[in-house]
Amino acid sequence: MDAIEALMSRVSVPPKLLVEPAPEGESLDEIMATAMRAPDHGALQPWRFHIVRGDARAKLGELFVEALKKRDPNADEAAIAKERARPLRSPLVIVAAVKVSYEKDNVPKVEQIVSTAAAVQNMMNAAHARGFGSFWATGKNARDAHVKAAFVLSEDDEIIGFVYFGTPRRGAGTKPRADSSAFVAEWA
Ligand SMILES: Cc1cc2nc3c(=O)[nH]c(=O)nc-3n(C[C@H](O)[C@H](O)[C@H](O)COP(=O)(O)O)c2cc1C
Repeated sequence: MDAIEALMSRVSVPPKLLVEPAPEGESLDEIMATAMRAPDHGALQPWRFHIVRGDARAKLGELFVEALKKRDPNADEAAIAKERARPLRSPLVIVAAVKVSYEKDNVPKVEQIVSTAAAVQNMMNAAHARGFGSFWATGKNARDAHVKAAFVLSEDDEIIGFVYFGTPRRGAGTKPRADSSAFVAEWA
């Protein structure tokens, strides 16, 4: 698939519609290599990616349950079950994090976040170009100190995504997109 064709046809695939096979081996290596092609001001390499698959997904679900119970000791069984099952919806979850550096005054935190976001988008487009699907999610777990600690992050570091990968159950589908002209203007 040509690069523009890939960019123009990517759509998010809901996690529960992502099934085996997920990218693995060389396919996954290739996807991760595209992350390293993101623009990176100051070459800080602020991104950290954690591959969660197989039984580790259940462990991530338990971590989400722990975090929920800390946030809400009265959480009901339905809410607990939802957190437990969350990472099990897809065969592969990649946790995308930003290890924030204050080493360079000219590269503020926001730039490190957007750089990591660009890396995630590269990964999603690369996955799509190879016939896989993906979905970028965050939610309360992404901002939770207990979850961050499990990924060796401080409270100031950021989890910017739990990115779900797999093969779209029924093809990736299509989605109408806005005309760019509504968001683009000549500035003079
Ligand atoms: C940083 C970020 C976080 C997101 N978090 C969630 C989320 O937690 N739950 C959700 O349903 N969609 C979330 N989304 C939106 C979906 O990933 C997706 O972009 C949206 O459903 C639109 O689909 P599309 O990418 O095909 O346009 C998030 C998107 C971004 C960029």
